[in-house]
Amino acid sequence: MQPQLDAYWMPFTANRQFKKAPRLLARAEGMYFWTPEGRQVLDGVAGLWCVNAGHARPKIVQAIQQQAGELDYAPPFQMGHPKAFELAERLVQLTPPGLNKVFYTNSGSESVETALKMAIAYHRVRGEGQRTRLIGRERAYHGVNFGGISVGGMVANRKMFGSLLSGVDHLRHTHDPTRNAFSRGQPAYGAELADDLERLVALHDASTIAAVIVEPVAGSTGVLIPPQGYLQRLREICDKHGILLIFDEVITGFGRTGQPFAAQTFGVTPDLMTVAKGITNGCVPMGAVFVKQEIHDAFMQGPEHLIEFFHGYTYSAHPLACAAALGTLDTYAEEGLLTRAGELESYFADAVHSLRGLPHVIDVRNIGLVGGIELAPRPEEPAKRAFDVFLDCWEQGVLIRTTGDTIALSPPLIIDRAQIDQIVQAVATALRRVR
Ligand SMILES: Cc1ncc(COP(=O)(O)O)c(C=O)c1O
Repeated sequence: MQPQLDAYWMPFTANRQFKKAPRLLARAEGMYFWTPEGRQVLDGVAGLWCVNAGHARPKIVQAIQQQAGELDYAPPFQMGHPKAFELAERLVQLTPPGLNKVFYTNSGSESVETALKMAIAYHRVRGEGQRTRLIGRERAYHGVNFGGISVGGMVANRKMFGSLLSGVDHLRHTHDPTRNAFSRGQPAYGAELADDLERLVALHDASTIAAVIVEPVAGSTGVLIPPQGYLQRLREICDKHGILLIFDEVITGFGRTGQPFAAQTFGVTPDLMTVAKGITNGCVPMGAVFVKQEIHDAFMQGPEHLIEFFHGYTYSAHPLACAAALGTLDTYAEEGLLTRAGELESYFADAVHSLRGLPHVIDVRNIGLVGGIELAPRPEEPAKRAFDVFLDCWEQGVLIRTTGDTIALSPPLIIDRAQIDQIVQAVATALRRVR
């Protein structure tokens, strides 16, 4: 029976269009969804960059079921439960050296707000309270809360919401198709774009800047891969000026680029790192901020009975989320999923780059198990051509995602070669017939 669609105001959705022709998902397992009518749909996007181990994985399902009956909720303020601590110990075995403290949140957006607040407060507790400025980047996506949209760089997410946070500036983005179109992996040109931070330092003075936040690979703004040397240079400039570097790894975390974190793939360690999505395989909302020991330690002063960081959420370290995350980490470890994107990268790259030359394709980008296929927009209706490709693929039984006129592919890390071919074939078929 078709549900009533009226009351639900859907997020980031063209509500009126959707409700005329709804696309509903009723069940999922492994690499597939099924619609209420029983039509099978191959998941080319890991749900929304989160179901890295595939759907309905037994260890994760069991962990959640068992936890719900054992401890449904525990207050996280001035109280704890064992799995929250166990999970943190497990997580920091995966992070780059030094990032060995974990603060829990419930989403990527909350992780970003938490990291930004930590950065500003860190400078204050060390006596540099004038370092309040936050630097983001054009075309960045850091979730939808006020801090995140302020440092973010997507105009549609910003323009409706007033004056945002004050004291924010932006680096130039790194997308440069004239020099880098159809790069395999990291583009060759653009390391010097990191020097834009020196421009902002010259404008504002380093003593006013708390942190720079970037996505190592920007996903929501169209799959932008960092040019070779860019992140290294950003790290050097931050170090030179005492500015904290935050990596937003909400989509790159947990194996997407071939290592547990993109920081490891690119060999650059940030001071704070935000994650969500793949931490629980998308099963239960959860996010986290990984923090360098010395940043954490700077807060651990004053009388011991006083709260050191006035921040947290009712659902921080929710028992169901912790159980799901532990089951997820077990699944990742048992199946070698956190490095599997690296093993499949070359095959995946060949597949997505085979779309070069098809109608409307103006760029193809890839890293790990992430692919971006950029289409020339129809002049009169930007983003519509890519959305038509999305609808065609859906009809063909393949779920892809589009952002603007870029198709983004980010399949579960359990994908096999035949399924990669199926996704790319569906896109190719759609491209041949889209207007
Ligand atoms: C880089 C990045 N940061 C933050 C977010 C926001 O995460 P959430 O939707 O869980 O709040 C996303 C979501 O896609 C993201 O890609």
